[in-house]
Amino acid sequence: MIASPESWDLSGKVAIVTGAARGIGRATAELLRARGASIIASDISDVVRQLDGDGYATLTGDVADDDVARHTVALAMERFGRLDILVNNAGRTLNKSLLDTSVAEWDAILATNARGNFVHSREAVRAMLTTGGGTIVSVVSVVSQVAMKDLVAYAASKGAVAQLVKVIAAEYGRQGIRANAVAPGVIETDILDSTVVENSRSVLAGYGDTHPIGRVGQPQEIAETIAFLASPASSFMTGALVMADGGYTAI
Ligand SMILES: NC(=O)c1ccc[n+]([C@@H]2O[C@H](COP(=O)([O-])OP(=O)(O)OC[C@H]3O[C@@H](n4cnc5c(N)ncnc54)[C@H](O)[C@@H]3O)[C@@H](O)[C@H]2O)c1
Repeated sequence: MIASPESWDLSGKVAIVTGAARGIGRATAELLRARGASIIASDISDVVRQLDGDGYATLTGDVADDDVARHTVALAMERFGRLDILVNNAGRTLNKSLLDTSVAEWDAILATNARGNFVHSREAVRAMLTTGGGTIVSVVSVVSQVAMKDLVAYAASKGAVAQLVKVIAAEYGRQGIRANAVAPGVIETDILDSTVVENSRSVLAGYGDTHPIGRVGQPQEIAETIAFLASPASSFMTGALVMADGGYTAI
């Protein structure tokens, strides 16, 4: 059967997008909404409230907090009556080598990027099992697979999530739950704001040459991959890691 455009349609679906205030999360929330899904958009930043409106509910909190995860899933069930899609997107980076990374920094990055994914996936699976299934898409990174210097805690956190996704796929596949990961190359967002004092966007754009495609990516390009993995168009995919990296890991 050739995939029809309807297989990309998300009408009637309910999706949680974490880290939706800006960047890849914002682009994803807007794309899933445009394809017909109702959206719970969460973020630690109040800026996420900008999305409040028809088909959206928003929530602020730390993604690493299991109470926030419970609250986020409960909001989906209360407001929209079900949960079909979880996009684990919230994350932050730390540009530090092994010897420069403190235990507190390690714990903080692992909490946001790995624990946040765990607590949200756990609550989402609990809810999805009551309604016959769903799909989880987790945003990892090329550094979940290949090394890049000075990203010790970040790379380890993304590697942990890449493996968590496979285990969820193995555990719940027969109950209608799919779990996949997307691994972006360098994407032009504000993610370096906290670690690079000035010109974070031009620092990122400078990575373009390291990608065979000759440029860095845009948030909308990752949103498209996430929307595919969230949709019935990817119905036979689970436990997969999709590289959306401009060829970065191909060379
Ligand atoms: N930009 C890149 O080059 C790139 C590459 C690979 C992977 N990623 C991943 O993509 C995801 C999105 O990153 P982005 O580039 O859009 O960055 P971004 O900084 O523009 O957006 C990240 C969002 O997550 C939110 N967030 C951060 N910590 C949080 C917390 N503790 N609780 C709740 N929300 C929190 C931020 O407020 C922000 O809105 C991240 O998981 C990141 O690791 C980004």
